[in-house]
Amino acid sequence: MKQQRAKFGSKLGVILASAGSAVGLGNVWRFPYEAGNNGGAAFIIIYLISVVLIGMPIIISEFMIGRRSKSNTAGAYKKLAPHTPWKWVGRLGVLTGFLILCYYVVVAGWTLEYVYQSLIDSFHGQDKDFFVNQFATFSQSIFRPILWLVLFMLLTHFIIVRGVEKGIEESSKIMMPLLFILIIVLVGFSVSLPGAQAGIDFLIKPDWGKVTPKVILSAVGQAFFSLSIGMGCLCTYASYFSKETKLGRTAISVGLIDTFIAILAGFLIFPAAFSVGIAPGAGPSLVFVTLPNVFEHAFGGVPVLAYLFSLLFYILLAMAALTSTISIHEVITAYIHEEFHYGRKQAARIVTTTCIVVGTFCSLSLGPWQQYTLFDLDLFSLFDFVTAKILLPVGGVLISIFAGWYLDKKGIFLEEISTGGAIRPWLYKFLIISLRYIAPIAIFLVFLNQFGIF
Ligand code: TRP
Repeated sequence: MKQQRAKFGSKLGVILASAGSAVGLGNVWRFPYEAGNNGGAAFIIIYLISVVLIGMPIIISEFMIGRRSKSNTAGAYKKLAPHTPWKWVGRLGVLTGFLILCYYVVVAGWTLEYVYQSLIDSFHGQDKDFFVNQFATFSQSIFRPILWLVLFMLLTHFIIVRGVEKGIEESSKIMMPLLFILIIVLVGFSVSLPGAQAGIDFLIKPDWGKVTPKVILSAVGQAFFSLSIGMGCLCTYASYFSKETKLGRTAISVGLIDTFIAILAGFLIFPAAFSVGIAPGAGPSLVFVTLPNVFEHAFGGVPVLAYLFSLLFYILLAMAALTSTISIHEVITAYIHEEFHYGRKQAARIVTTTCIVVGTFCSLSLGPWQQYTLFDLDLFSLFDFVTAKILLPVGGVLISIFAGWYLDKKGIFLEEISTGGAIRPWLYKFLIISLRYIAPIAIFLVFLNQFGIF
């Protein structure tokens, strides 16, 4: 046997690391703009249903597969289903992760620019038009976004080579609770801005007339993206869980924390956006042009507070993004390390370098290379579309079929989920029904519909 595999140190560490993967730009950046593009409340309700009916069972499946096999995600299927094509599910996951990381790190880099702008106090006394212009100029420029994304990849790299327990677990333990508190405080300010009520209505009054297949696919895709499922990310983390970790409870904690933060982000962004007249469908710029306004308005009278809140917020957002980039990087690094027998450091170096190169292309595709498009999408948007709306749901269907139909129910499924003890019969039934029928059929129908087949 090889040397002993790494492990997470404590129960809390397991939850925070997994939640650290789940909570990130997906909650604060992607969720509000997808909700805004897709009509608001109705999208959010479909998203919540997807989290419970499809997301939770898939989190548990990834946990089972990972902990049982103690392998990177491709190795996991090789161990649990030797000599079958199932290993391709793992490989597909690694590819998906790579594509996500390449554009995710662009946005992660933006958060560093906003940390920097907060630090030099350039938001002070500015208005909405300034923020809109500033974001457009910055995100379309050549060097600065690339500089930040390189820096962000290096930060990720640094933590990855420090190893699972020291790097990943320790950083999550500090950052997660802090982010949580700060968002709650800011929501308080946001909902009390003048004209905020329209934003709150947008979040809680569903307009079912706006629901189309596209809206449903977007909601399902967002649930997958936000929970970090469908590509073996939680599967890889679970391979570092100990025998005692309770998979069901951990899954519920992760799902609750992630969903709660996404909803809070909604209550942070939309009241503020409506208050200053920024359209909810503003797209990827939404968070970046709305938030500086919140800081300015909420603490306009006390510039020191505006300064501190904005600085702290962007630092925490960058850190939330960091715990997510780490988790994706880890999937690919563990794969290269274990399947191709490179040293861990060298594997990490390969991942970091390739992501910097492709990430640079993604960044340029928003500015100087805007005219090069495929299916009408620039590279950045193409990666986002292909991963969140195609590859993650496809990966999710395959994982649920694997866990629901293929995995040995008595020997592996029950043992893993019950940690060797007992499991409530209704819970077992719910999992099986969801994994065997609900998840695959629902996603399949949404797909057929979206691509005009039915
Ligand atoms: N869930 C993270 C977020 O919300 C992003 C992320 C991390 C992710 N790992 C993933 C998305 C795996 C999809 C698959 O920011």
